[in-house]
Amino acid sequence: MWLKRLSLINFKNIRQAEIDLSERFNCFVGDNGAGKTNVLDAVHYLSMSKSAFTMTDGQSVSHGEDFFVVEGSYIADSERLEGVNCAFSRKGGKILKRNGKEYERLADHVGNFPLVIVSPRDTELIMDAADERRRYLNGFISQLDKAYLASMMRYNAVLAERNRFLKTSSDEQMLLIYDMQLSEHGTRVYERRREIVDQMREMIEEYYRFLAEDRERVDITYRSELDDMPLSDLLLRSRERDIINQFTCSGVHRDDLIFKIGGYPLRKYGSQGQQKSFLIALKLAQYRMLAEHCHERPILLLDDLFDKLDIGRVERLLSLVSAEEFGQIFITDCNKIRLEDTLQRADVGYKLFTVEQGEVRL
Ligand SMILES: Nc1ncnc2c1ncn2[C@@H]1O[C@H](COP(=O)(O)OP(=O)(O)OP(=O)(O)O)[C@@H](O)[C@H]1O
Ligand SMILES: [Mg+2]
Repeated sequence: MWLKRLSLINFKNIRQAEIDLSERFNCFVGDNGAGKTNVLDAVHYLSMSKSAFTMTDGQSVSHGEDFFVVEGSYIADSERLEGVNCAFSRKGGKILKRNGKEYERLADHVGNFPLVIVSPRDTELIMDAADERRRYLNGFISQLDKAYLASMMRYNAVLAERNRFLKTSSDEQMLLIYDMQLSEHGTRVYERRREIVDQMREMIEEYYRFLAEDRERVDITYRSELDDMPLSDLLLRSRERDIINQFTCSGVHRDDLIFKIGGYPLRKYGSQGQQKSFLIALKLAQYRMLAEHCHERPILLLDDLFDKLDIGRVERLLSLVSAEEFGQIFITDCNKIRLEDTLQRADVGYKLFTVEQGEVRL
């Protein structure tokens, strides 16, 4: 799947833009704060119906305006034409349309236009608390499995209800009903997470070894309390504690991903470039899994290509993504000469856009 044309109105610092893109590499160069990442975020909006960076849609509306519109014309791998339009107004909220038809639920859109983003923000995945890693896993698995998203949403709804209930009551009968529902949805979430992470492990290791020229090994493991016993038993076991804490202490909302380098925690022992390389390996594995499940080559966004990487790793990354199995790629960098040099050496065809104070030019 590739994005042939991107149109923006009032999106962050880009007041208006019409961008005709290449099927392969699209590069956006310009100074800090020019709007390069904003272009990529608009593409993210079209796939995920939300920003990759800001918490609220309102933050993506140009200062002083009331609405933004992002529109994309796609060509699927089957050559089918597809249009996506995402409009947000401060008064009317967000409306997402595919081929002119509005979605009833935004969640129905997720996975139809698969996308993977690599950005400097990814370090939050390593540095932040477990909920960041769960959010990542949820976003990723939702793209390749709509049933997962539904289970996750139901699990969260029951969990919130159970927690509310615990604040006022400890009625065993009611808790039993909540536990049955939590177990049903939670077990599905657990099984899918376990399956996906197990499938990714080897790919991540393989990509990392290639990027790092075999210098060191990395590993990812999925950790869940459900490894030890079924969720229904866990809930029963922690019931007394839950009643005292007025909060559900066990479940898949406590899962985590553990990242290691050379057998040690990546957060503590990985250098910045090693951490970045790990994140890229993770995202490339994600790309491959999405491509397989969606039967569509996802769009790959590489924000700040050179961020923390030495030139050897950048070149190996480019040689990886220039393979046939990767489709359309968006790259940003603040140094035009460096980027062009590297792309020419990698011998890839590309289209280069200059971004200057919110203006995008070929
Ligand atoms: N809602 C908004 N309205 C207007 N401008 C905005 C809005 N949100 C962000 N901006 C502006 O967008 C600019 C940042 O754009 P962006 O992050 O795309 O820069 P960049 O080109 O990627 O820079 P860098 O090289 O530093 O990564 C900032 O100047 C910021 O003030
Ligand atoms: Mg940027």
